[in-house]
Amino acid sequence: MRTETPQTIRLEDYRPSDHLIDRVDLDLRLSPHDTRVTATLAIRPNPAGEAGAPLVLDGDELILLGLECDGQALPADAFAATPSGLTLHRPPRRPFTLRIETQIDPTANTKLMGLYRSNGVYCTQCEADGFRRITYFLDRPDVLSVYTTRIEAGRDEAPVLLGNGNPGACGVIADTDRHYAVWHDPHPKPAYLFALVGGRLDRVATRFTTMEGRDVAVAVYVEPGKGPRADYALDAVVRSMGWDETACGRPYDLDVFNVVAVSDFNMGAMENKGLNIFNDKYVLADPETATDTDYANIEAVIAHEYFHNWSGNRVTCRDWFQLCLKEGLTVFRDQEFSSDMRSRAVHRIGEVRTLRARQFSEDAGPLAHPVRPRAYAEINNFYTATVYEKGAEIVRMIRTLLGPAAFRAGMDRYFAENDGRAATVEDFLAAFAAESGRDLSAFAGWYERPGTPRVTAAGIYDADARRYTLSLRQSLPSGDGAPLVIPVALGLVGASGPIEAACPRVPDGVFVLEATSDTLTFEGVAEPPVPSLFRGFSAPVRVEMNLGDAERLTLLRHDTDPFNRWQAAQSVAMRLILDRAGARLVEADEAGPAAEAYAAALGAFLDAEALADPAFAALVLALPSEGEAANEIGRDVDPDAVHRARQTLRRHLGRSLRGRLESLREALAQAAGAPFSPDAASAGRRALINTALDLIAMADPEAGTRAAEAQLSAASNMTDRLAALAILAQIPGKARETALAAFGERYADEPLVLDKWFALQATIPEAGTLDRIARLRSHPAFAMTNPNRVRALIGSFGLGNPTQFARADGAGFALLAETVEALDRVNPQIAAKLLTTFGSWRMLEPARSSKAGEILSRMQARPSLSRDVADILARTLA
Ligand code: ARG
Ligand code: ZN
Repeated sequence: MRTETPQTIRLEDYRPSDHLIDRVDLDLRLSPHDTRVTATLAIRPNPAGEAGAPLVLDGDELILLGLECDGQALPADAFAATPSGLTLHRPPRRPFTLRIETQIDPTANTKLMGLYRSNGVYCTQCEADGFRRITYFLDRPDVLSVYTTRIEAGRDEAPVLLGNGNPGACGVIADTDRHYAVWHDPHPKPAYLFALVGGRLDRVATRFTTMEGRDVAVAVYVEPGKGPRADYALDAVVRSMGWDETACGRPYDLDVFNVVAVSDFNMGAMENKGLNIFNDKYVLADPETATDTDYANIEAVIAHEYFHNWSGNRVTCRDWFQLCLKEGLTVFRDQEFSSDMRSRAVHRIGEVRTLRARQFSEDAGPLAHPVRPRAYAEINNFYTATVYEKGAEIVRMIRTLLGPAAFRAGMDRYFAENDGRAATVEDFLAAFAAESGRDLSAFAGWYERPGTPRVTAAGIYDADARRYTLSLRQSLPSGDGAPLVIPVALGLVGASGPIEAACPRVPDGVFVLEATSDTLTFEGVAEPPVPSLFRGFSAPVRVEMNLGDAERLTLLRHDTDPFNRWQAAQSVAMRLILDRAGARLVEADEAGPAAEAYAAALGAFLDAEALADPAFAALVLALPSEGEAANEIGRDVDPDAVHRARQTLRRHLGRSLRGRLESLREALAQAAGAPFSPDAASAGRRALINTALDLIAMADPEAGTRAAEAQLSAASNMTDRLAALAILAQIPGKARETALAAFGERYADEPLVLDKWFALQATIPEAGTLDRIARLRSHPAFAMTNPNRVRALIGSFGLGNPTQFARADGAGFALLAETVEALDRVNPQIAAKLLTTFGSWRMLEPARSSKAGEILSRMQARPSLSRDVADILARTLA
């Protein structure tokens, strides 16, 4: 491997392909080390391209065995072939057929892109550019073809053979131990949606009849013996199919829909047409091994990939700069689905926590980029929180601006006008503009401008005139530029409840901030109001307003918007943490009167509402994370000071609320009962039970240890067991080591549970954690070739252990860097992802940031970095 000079690809350089490929006939003879691929391509010049241009096909680590054009071998001077490309210098200027034979080694493929083997199962991953690792091709999303795939393999090694589309002929090959299956996909698709699977797999299945009357065979394939753990995922597929019809009018369009779970997978899952391939973490679940969070994630990822069938597959992207067109939209769709399946308010808070933890920090650091980037060196580094999560917020803002009816009409128009096409962000916005009659050109700034906008608000109340004046001002970190179009859902709240006041500029509770600053006047306001701004988090911005704790706690009590009730408590907690961290207080306790008032307000809230909505109460009790606090501080961050400040506040909450927390635990434990059910209400009770235990353990580690041990041994499900173990893990001593060892043994044969065990230990905020990680790296279950394991041990350390990752001696950074370097030789995509944990290095205090800078620069000097890692490094250091 050699460090390639990263070549920059730019949006402005987009040109249509000079050639099109209408039909692809693939013949794949699977064999562990020597797989033969014959591709027969029906190619023609693209009328929109350049006439007579050479045909330049992409390749990656391919061995060319044969090449024919219209049945004729080509003379040596007519083409050039390397592992990374095949060029026909003078291709026919009419339709022609190219037959290409390549050889690949799926077993040696540890990059997990293209065709590889996971635990012996043949599978593929082609997005963004993996198809070129299978055969030479125009591997770009605007070349759409109809595929017929014949898969052949050993009957014993791969009794199950799956492809895209509908199943066709299958049979055994006489006098051999091999068999074959043919699959045909009638829907033209780009190469990144190609997939195949071959292996020993168990199947759970059902049927679904679409609104158009199509009878669909729906199946989930998993490793032998794990069938019962696929029931929940199968049910989630069926619910997704139903929801896309009733909520969006989108029916399924093939006779089969297959999901396959594999254990080695670079990301969450992949929406290949009719054959979604999943990281088994997002498929397998039973009460013994999966937490409530796992169940919720499975539901969300199953839905996400299924929904791509319309937002991604039927309408795909013209080029990879448009990635948010399918990802942002599909995240929005899966979030809506989950909100309908669960509690909308609770789900919204979860979405925003993720956005702030991952996207706001990305947007504040060196890896910030627009939702639609304008340039990239390695596209696989742009599957980011910005493209996905901020991309989803943009779609949600369109709905807020247009209202649900025009939004739905716009979606329908987008699908109708772009069906079977490779579309752009402009096509998407045009559909909404046409339906609503609104000019969305200023709104489009959200796709172009990186950074999290700030909205500063200030209010003046005139008691005599019964008038409230609210001024709002927006700014982007990048400084000037046209203002953004920001939907601000808002209302006023008084000491005893919501205030009805007239302001014609806030129809339906939404004001649209289009200028840099603006002022709203509310008439008939009988008492001093507290503004409730950005209800439901109506725009992905940071809000600054000089409200006192008492005013915020008024919102917690009386706002009608559950999101802002939660936000109010978070803001008070954040200020308490920041004040304390800023003072760099070392002494442990001394909470102070503001913290007392905060705890008292939470106490009153719990008394009034905890039993009615435990999931919401658990969120209100949870403090902002250390990472969020660091982002809020923004510069010169001392993670130890942040950690101590947050711990102090948690301890204080635990002490003040102890009696209530204990009675809540009892009351909820009775309500929770058996048998286990993963539904949202039951999960909510468990969330509050465990949040309460966590605070109790902060207040009284001895009592906490006893209660956690009791819960650990009595637990009937992984949620309660893991929560107890996590609490024990935070308390140094023998109880912790005993519990960790027992858990590790009990689940020695459960990879997904071991991942939790690795992650938990990697996030212990103590100096000894580095040694612990060194030991765990030589644990027999740890393997660099398994992305889940690497993410569990090293990724969690980088993302979830700020005091140890950013240790003042640099040892945490060094550990991360060593892993990235070693992993880069195995799986560059995962190595690059791990490296993004350095994204906030510049905001650390000087001693720590200079350590990080040194380590990154040293890595950059190494001679053989992958393009993936070199790209992240260059941007992180820029
Ligand atoms: N399209 C997949 C999804 O729905 C993710 C593919 C990620 N690919 C990559 N190279 N990182 O989320
Ligand atoms: Zn997606």
